[in-house]
Amino acid sequence: MPNQDRDDTKIETLARRVMARCDRLALCSEEPDHLTRTFLSPPMREVHADLREWMHSCHVTVRVDALGNLIGRYPAAEEPAPALLLGSHLDTVPNAGRYDGVVGVLLALAVVEAFDARFRSGESRLPFALEVIGFSEEEGVRFRTPYLGSRALSGQWEPSLLALRDKNGVRLDECLDAFGQDAAAIGAAVYSPSQVVGYVEAHIEQGPVLEKQALPVGIVSAVAGQTRCRLRFMGRAAHAGTTPMGLMRQDALVGAAEFIGAVEAAGQATPGLVATVGAITVLPNASNVIPGAAQISLDVRHARNTVREEAVAGLLEQAQRIAGRRGLHCQTLDRYDFAAVPMDADLRTLLAEAVEELGFPAHEMVSGAGHDAVMMAQLAPSAMLFLRGPNGGISHHPDETVFEEDVATALRVLVSLVEKVAASKEDENE
Ligand code: HGY
Ligand code: MN
Ligand code: MN
Repeated sequence: MPNQDRDDTKIETLARRVMARCDRLALCSEEPDHLTRTFLSPPMREVHADLREWMHSCHVTVRVDALGNLIGRYPAAEEPAPALLLGSHLDTVPNAGRYDGVVGVLLALAVVEAFDARFRSGESRLPFALEVIGFSEEEGVRFRTPYLGSRALSGQWEPSLLALRDKNGVRLDECLDAFGQDAAAIGAAVYSPSQVVGYVEAHIEQGPVLEKQALPVGIVSAVAGQTRCRLRFMGRAAHAGTTPMGLMRQDALVGAAEFIGAVEAAGQATPGLVATVGAITVLPNASNVIPGAAQISLDVRHARNTVREEAVAGLLEQAQRIAGRRGLHCQTLDRYDFAAVPMDADLRTLLAEAVEELGFPAHEMVSGAGHDAVMMAQLAPSAMLFLRGPNGGISHHPDETVFEEDVATALRVLVSLVEKVAASKEDENE
């Protein structure tokens, strides 16, 4: 069989295996009837066990770092050598789809398998190592703080994060300890820039653009900035039956509800802005008690930092006005601001070449979703390849899906990108 056809067969086989492995890892869940796999939850051990087995079969050495990131290294032609890092995250949101994060990790492994097959049939090896990274936590579900895994690896860890508590009051460092990791070794998890050639993340688009353009893959130009925080509206719990309507009531939930409407209005009024209240807790949460407290999440995103910052400032002022008018207090908690992050121009160019050589237009787009590439871009040149999302790109939902042929296309692009990076390294060394 000619080289190209054999490669194609190999790619098709590897893509089919990526899909089957996504199905397998979707069974590793905290819940019996849907997929939820948060930071270092017990099913993450099963995921690690499967990945270890799959990695060992293609000569990858595997380790788990202090933050629970699973890292597989495929050696360079000559070691020691820097590594091109490929990966994504292994944690999920509650009731998740099976491709968000995971398909990027398994595509990274498929890239290694494609090269391993070629090297074992006599081709010369790469001038750099390939590392497959499965980040332990990107979504920020368990500790309400995203990118915990990639923060550690990219040198942006803050010791104060160890004191974060999950909804059961478990501290982050206790969680690490329970999983067998050593918080004291987090410092050793950091990569130095000299160890890294670059970081490339394949990820589902989680939106409708590529489907609308009938494109299998897209290239991320930048990841939108995001502000995440919690607001607590505080009023006064009282008897629902005996407290007259009007100013005698200090109903925290109605104040929060008015604010939630204002959040939607702000998102609708500003082009390119998205603003969401995704979580709410009401206390005491009883039908015959006027809510004394209502705590909500706020998630605001935009490709331009100034637009997002102004929108957030306006909303927080509005929250104070609403609270004042209703005799409530409003407190902002746990605020995290992530600036918009451009992806590396050279890697984007190589990705575009690889996509066009396959006969597709190289469509560039901003990512509204956050990704580990936001953290990794602080460490090394970083790039992202999006896979088309069928059904309007629905994600963070069990209906999330990808086309197998798009996985194969993404794999061809990634293999070609690695070849291009290797060629550019060889040019540099001449
Ligand atoms: O929330 C996000 O943007 C991503 O899915 N973690
Ligand atoms: Mn996600
Ligand atoms: Mn994701």
